[in-house]
Parts: sequence; C-alpha cells; structure tokens
Amino acid sequence: MLRTTMLAAARSSAVRRLVEANPLTRTVVDRFVAGADTSAAIGVTGRLAEKGLHVTLDHLGEDTTDSRQADETVLAYQGLLAELRRAGLAHRAEVSVKLSAVGQQLGPDGEKIALDNARRICESAAEAGTTVTLDMEDHTTTDTTLRTLSDLRVDFPQVGAVLQAYLHRTEQDCRELAREGSRVRLCKGAYSEPASVAFQDKHEVDRSYVRCLRALMEGQGYPMVATHDPRMVRIASELAGSAGRAKDSYEFQMLYGIRPAEQQRMAEDGERLRVYVPYGQEWYGYFMRRLAERPANIGFFLRSLLTR
Ligand code: FDA
Repeated sequence: MLRTTMLAAARSSAVRRLVEANPLTRTVVDRFVAGADTSAAIGVTGRLAEKGLHVTLDHLGEDTTDSRQADETVLAYQGLLAELRRAGLAHRAEVSVKLSAVGQQLGPDGEKIALDNARRICESAAEAGTTVTLDMEDHTTTDTTLRTLSDLRVDFPQVGAVLQAYLHRTEQDCRELAREGSRVRLCKGAYSEPASVAFQDKHEVDRSYVRCLRALMEGQGYPMVATHDPRMVRIASELAGSAGRAKDSYEFQMLYGIRPAEQQRMAEDGERLRVYVPYGQEWYGYFMRRLAERPANIGFFLRSLLTR
C-alpha cells in the first residue's frame, strides 16, 4: 500500500514540487545521489575505487519528452566518459543508461531515436575503454529494450541489460540471455506493475529471483547480482559455487548509499562489488523509488525534514 502510494507520488508533478521545494530534502537526497554534475560523479567514483569498489554511473533523467533533451543526455554521458578516461577510472567504472532518457518515448520513431543515441554513448564508452548497461523501466518497455540491446550488441558485444525478477517473463528471458558474452544485471524490480505481468507477493518475487539466478549462474554469460538482500546474496554465492564459477565470472551490485558498510565488507572479502551511482539534477523519480522500497528510508526522510 505504502509502496504503491510512493510509486504514484514518483509520477506526480504536484508532489514533486512539494518535495523539491523543501530545503531539507537535499540533505536526504545526498545520501542516494552523488551530486549534481560530472565532477561530483568523478569524485565519488574515485573515492569508491580507492576502497576497492567498482562503479556504474547513471546520469539521472527519464521520460524525456523532446529530442533536444535526449541529445543533452547523450552529451552528458559523452562528457562523463571522457572524464572517466582522463581520470584513469574507466577500468573501474561503466555507465548505466535509461532508454527513456535518450528518446524511447518520442513517438513512433522513439525506438530508433533511442537506439541511435544509445549507440553514440556505446561508441564513447568503447573509446574510453569501458561499456554500457541498459537499465530496465516499466514492463511496457521490456521488449523494446531487449530489441535495442540485441541491436547494440552487434557492434558492442559488451553491452549489458537489466532484467527484473518480479516479471513473470523474466525466468525465460534469463535463459535466453545466459549466453556466452552476455551481461545481465538481475534485480527484483522497482516499478508498480499489474498482476497480469508481475508477481505481487514479495515471497513470490524472491522465489523468482532465485530461479533467475540459477539460470544465469548455470549459463555462459556474466551475471550481475543486483540486490541488497542478504539472503539473495548468500544464495547467489552458493549457486556460483555449485556452478563452478570463478570469482571474476560474476559480480554483486548495490545502490549508492544503501548498505555501504556491507559493500565494503564484501569487496574486502574478495567479491567484485559494483556500486550504482546516480548523479545529476533529475533526482526526483529515482529518489522516490528508493523511498518506496523501504519504510525505514521514508522514516529517515521524514526525520530529516523535521530536524536540522
Ligand atoms: P528488497 O527491497 O526486497 O529488500 C530485501 C532486504 O535487503 C531487506 O529486508 C534488507 O535486509 C535489505 N535491504 C534492502 N534495502 C535496504 C536498505 N536501504 N538498508 C538496509 N538494508 C536493506 N530496478 C528496476 O526496476 N530497473 C533497474 O534498471 C534497476 N537497476 C538496479 C541496479 C542496481 C545495481 C540495483 C542494486 C538495483 C536496481 N534496481 C532496478 C532496483 C531493484 O529493482 C530493487 O527495487 C532494489 O534493489 C530493492 O530490492 P532488493 O533486492 O535490494 O531487496
């Protein structure tokens, strides 16, 4: 119920104005978002890399409504990738891209516009010596995103994508994508989805996550286990062990600001741990989805609104 309300608020411009207008919001946002610009993103990446962590950077923005905005997003990624290279951090950091931020929703040509724009980002990533992972948005975009992935992989075989265990279809998608050379980031899923396409019960989502993990670990690709759930982390390690995987043939991923001590501990234990680091001005949708995931985050948010 709370989750549904928060996810509806994530799409409401009235709530957005209210949240953004509060001067204390920024303090809380800073826990989950690296900063407003490229230099803040590079700074955080450098600090995480020094601690032995890997990074994926997300230039915040989604639901782009005109091609100029989509173009600006591409330029932002290109600038970021050039800076990563200059700072000697490209071996530690890749980028995550939402296709809706580069034009996927721009009418009947949206898919092609997003593909062309994503291709420009992939070219810059290749020049910098790193790669791209496509984020996954709501279920209406899954087919388009997977088609775009397959088109991009012709020229950029390292491009990866996110799959969401809450969707009924995902176990099958995992089997199809668990091929040699593919990179799949498996998460539970963060959007409000109908029962016709997604498991609604948390335990069912967890069971699906384990089935998907098994398919990925037993397959030939590179699984990226994106979760903060200690149980899923343990099961992923067990499945990797029973599939005979070496430590460098899969990785764990967590979001910036969530369980940072555990991120550090896992890296020190010899796991490859990648932190998903969002940055930029358009933090609202991302931030509200994080609050929706966990009542404790909402408590943290409300407390900081009440106290200085
Ligand atoms: P879940 O929320 O079910 O929590 C399970 C347990 O994890 C909790 O009981 C607690 O023990 C621990 N935990 C969770 N949050 C915690 C916190 N804040 N503090 C302490 N403990 C906590 N979604 C999507 O739809 N599309 C996408 O492209 C992506 N991309 C993505 C990338 C990466 C790297 C990650 C980690 C996640 C995503 N997501 C995503 C978000 C994802 O779908 C999901 O909403 C969140 O990761 C929360 O789910 P968890 O698996 O962490 O567990």
